[in-house]
Amino acid sequence: MNRYSFLGASVMLLGSLHSATYAITATEQLAAYTAQAGAPAQAARGQTLFTSKHGKEWSCSSCHTATPTVEGKHATTGKAIAPLAPAFNPDRFADAAKAEKWFRRNCNDVMGRECTAGEKADILAWLLTLKR
Ligand code: HEC
Repeated sequence: MNRYSFLGASVMLLGSLHSATYAITATEQLAAYTAQAGAPAQAARGQTLFTSKHGKEWSCSSCHTATPTVEGKHATTGKAIAPLAPAFNPDRFADAAKAEKWFRRNCNDVMGRECTAGEKADILAWLLTLKR
């Protein structure tokens, strides 16, 4: 294989991996948000964002608790919400589309806008510091 066909094959392989797999790890998801933000994530900033109100009725903690290693409870429906910290719930941030969907919805509810990539990176960095 010459250099060009090798490159072509690599690009095709990467392309198919990209489209075929949406399953990722929380650490990979953090790396993606950090790259998108173009700055390192700060866990402390993520914790503050998560536990504070932003001019609306709820904070993230209203449903996920201030220590999302435990089960949360929906602020209006009272429905149980499984822990958000990946160390306590391996399903968290294992599906990029799902994480994006809920970030969009919940950030809108809490901040009246979508979270930036940097904010998502900060929150996820903090969630990853929560260990058993
Ligand atoms: C009104 C209640 C409520 C509030 C407030 C809320 N969430 Fe959620 N969140 C949910 C529910 C319900 C789900 C989906 C059910 C589930 O995945 O357990 C969810 C799921 C998520 C997920 C999906 C994670 C995954 O990969 O499974 C993320 C990320 C998330 N929330 C982040 C946040 C952040 C950040 C905030 C604050 C900006 C926030 N949430 C505020 C109710 C809430």
